[in-house]
Amino acid sequence: MKRLSGKRALITGAARGIGAAFAEAYANEGARVMIADIDTARAEATAAQIGAAAIAVELDVTDQASIDRALSRTVECFGGLDILINNAAVFTAAPLVEVTREAYQRTFDINVSGTLFMMQAAAQQMITQGTGGKIVNMASQAGRRGEPLVSVYCATKAAVISLTQSAGLNLISHGINVNAIAPGVVDGEHWDGVDAFFAKYEGKAPGQKKAEVAQSVPYGRMGTAADLTGMVVFLASEAADYVVAQTYNVDGGQWMS
Ligand SMILES: NC(=O)c1ccc[n+]([C@@H]2O[C@H](COP(=O)([O-])OP(=O)(O)OC[C@H]3O[C@@H](n4cnc5c(N)ncnc54)[C@H](O)[C@@H]3O)[C@@H](O)[C@H]2O)c1
Repeated sequence: MKRLSGKRALITGAARGIGAAFAEAYANEGARVMIADIDTARAEATAAQIGAAAIAVELDVTDQASIDRALSRTVECFGGLDILINNAAVFTAAPLVEVTREAYQRTFDINVSGTLFMMQAAAQQMITQGTGGKIVNMASQAGRRGEPLVSVYCATKAAVISLTQSAGLNLISHGINVNAIAPGVVDGEHWDGVDAFFAKYEGKAPGQKKAEVAQSVPYGRMGTAADLTGMVVFLASEAADYVVAQTYNVDGGQWMS
């Protein structure tokens, strides 16, 4: 039996990478999925690839009017909202003495404010519906501890873990489960960007950092988006009704907590 039959989901940052894999996994489990992304052309292409269960909508998680429009469009198309995945995020890295206010502000606006105000908008809709819901936030092992060159991104992901705890405790009285996933290193375009940062600051050849991190994973390789879909389906399903305010490491054994 499909585990998300009839469910209506919105996934932020689902045009590519992990979010696109989540959208496909949800459609395969019987859900309808709104592919919400600032990259509208790519969001349309991803939705078309998934098929009739997926629709694309423009979303900038830093803009309240855009959040409201994406939520309204989801309710208009699907008749309601049962699942929100806060997946959109950006990465930045620099030695502490080179961090700019612009990079700090942009990263916090997308990764933290975006997560908070998407949760708020979704929770308002779910509370109005009165049938509960599921929210999954994308944290990271970067939120579990600092890294020398990654102060800002690490702080945003620690904030996502904290927001998940507070929102989880606040919203469970409405039957809304809020939980998070903390991946380790997941291969894809995001990590190509990370690799480029380390090439710049650690003088590594392109691809070298990727190869090093892959070797450091106890499982023996980098993760793939597909490695995360089991957890994100579980957390949105009835099987997770008693799971509240948790952050799950899905990282091939890199972190224990
Ligand atoms: N890839 C990894 O190794 C890794 C590890 C740990 C955690 N994560 C987290 O998993 C999530 C997905 O990562 P990914 O590797 O697929 O990243 P990605 O960079 O491939 O995809 C991010 C998506 O977010 C979208 N986006 C960016 N700014 C936006 C905005 N303002 N509004 C709406 N959408 C916006 C982008 O267009 C893109 O489609 C992120 O939260 C990331 O921090 C990734």
